Amino acid sequence: MSPLVVQQLPMAKDFSSFLSKEGAARKKSPLKGLLRFMQGDMISLGGGLPHPSTFPFYSLTAEIKGMGPEQSPVTTPVPVDLTTPQEQQKAVRGEVVTVPHGPQANKVESLSTSLQYGIGTGIKALREFCKEHVATMHAPKYQDWDVVLSAGNTDAFAKAIAMICNRGDLIFVEEWTYPTALETLDPLGIGHVPVKMDGEGMSAVALKELLDNWGSTPDQGGVAKPRVAYLIPTGQNPTGATMSIQRRKDIIRVAQEHDLILIEDDPYYYLQFFIGEDQKQTEGQKDQDNSNNGWMPTLFSMDTDGRVIRLDTFSKTLAPGCRVGYMSMNAHFCNIIQYHNEVTIQQPSGFSQGLLAEMLVNHWGQEGYKRYLTENVRTEYLYRSRHLQAAFKKHVNGKYASFIEPSAGMFLWIKVHLEEHPRYGKVKDNVLMLELFNKCVEYNVLMVPGWQFSCKPKPTDIDPSDLLGSWYDEAATYMRATFAYATFDQMEEAITRYGEALKAVFAA
Ligand SMILES: Cc1ncc(COP(=O)(O)O)c(C=O)c1O
Repeated sequence: MSPLVVQQLPMAKDFSSFLSKEGAARKKSPLKGLLRFMQGDMISLGGGLPHPSTFPFYSLTAEIKGMGPEQSPVTTPVPVDLTTPQEQQKAVRGEVVTVPHGPQANKVESLSTSLQYGIGTGIKALREFCKEHVATMHAPKYQDWDVVLSAGNTDAFAKAIAMICNRGDLIFVEEWTYPTALETLDPLGIGHVPVKMDGEGMSAVALKELLDNWGSTPDQGGVAKPRVAYLIPTGQNPTGATMSIQRRKDIIRVAQEHDLILIEDDPYYYLQFFIGEDQKQTEGQKDQDNSNNGWMPTLFSMDTDGRVIRLDTFSKTLAPGCRVGYMSMNAHFCNIIQYHNEVTIQQPSGFSQGLLAEMLVNHWGQEGYKRYLTENVRTEYLYRSRHLQAAFKKHVNGKYASFIEPSAGMFLWIKVHLEEHPRYGKVKDNVLMLELFNKCVEYNVLMVPGWQFSCKPKPTDIDPSDLLGSWYDEAATYMRATFAYATFDQMEEAITRYGEALKAVFAA
């Protein structure tokens, strides 16, 4: 973006009044303040940095997928079993990345710095790569945005919440949502208000209605209106729903009208399935032509105020064990998260950061990474998704169960049509769902019970790990299946078993 364009963009609004007591109290670590003087001719006898010669790691080498112009991730699959000659052969086609012990002219990173203590933003080379990626992918609409590294979205969410929520606050969440988010909120005494969803995720109309009429129901009387909403806009976990551009615009409009902060947790963003001729033409997808090279515009990219906290992670694009992600948001919030990092994780692991920096900056580059995301990540999950869906259509009687076709992510959210069950109305829905879950286990196919994503409070008198003995929420007539992990043959077999389990339960 040219400097001229940057100057025309507004500055972020002041969101200081949204800070929790904890967020407002976070200050820069005076010890870390010394680090910025460590340049040029400075000789430091300060800090408590261990001497790099005591790091027993001479270098760090990894064999990675090559992403040069000649190479395609599709033709260089990751070897799954290095003990067979065929797989070893494939491995030879990888590219070698080395992070040396000390600085070298042709390297962006060395272990002596990536394994050293550093500031809570993460190491420079990786943070700058992520920031450039965010700038080109999302073209932020205000000037003073920034990026800070996290140890993944779980870490980032917990820190975002700590920054803007106090005990006793409420936040809006999707009607079915990622259980870890609720498990993060509950012990902190932060409540959640479910917002109705449809095939495009959180309904902007329902969110607006809740906000417009806040205080009108007995349970809301005297309770402060929530000021934060948590959303998973792409390939939502568990429903697989992806917000259309219009839905995203509507959500932003409601957030502006009611002055809400949005936490955009987007781990499945790059698992979007509309590739070229494969592009789906459902209602929600038609407007994708206006988007960024076919990628959905994010809430962050539509935010002119600095009210969106965007959480990205390398967990689904590279590997969860990297434990590296990045948060994009207004610079004030970035500072607070940096200070929080400095008293918790300090930074993501130096091994991960060093290797990722060298791989992304020096080997793949921005273009290679984008090509990898397109040609590998989204293609792989597109084919997987299609396979599970085709198996479902072949082996499951649609009278008993169905799903809305996902256009991103890893999940099929299966709706069980209990109204077709001979005992429907005579026994409770959760009893029938429990029967189905037990039958699935008996038939050796496992899916996640829908109640696990429910926002309803879990009864305290039942052991939540006793999956065979209870099904909490009567409205949770869903099961979540993933196409991310099993082999194609296993998916086919699992869905065959699921079809049989449904048949058996619906016969009784
Ligand atoms: C919605 C959502 N947020 C966050 C995560 C966890 O991400 P990370 O591995 O970056 O902590 C997941 C993983 O399943 C997820 O589905």
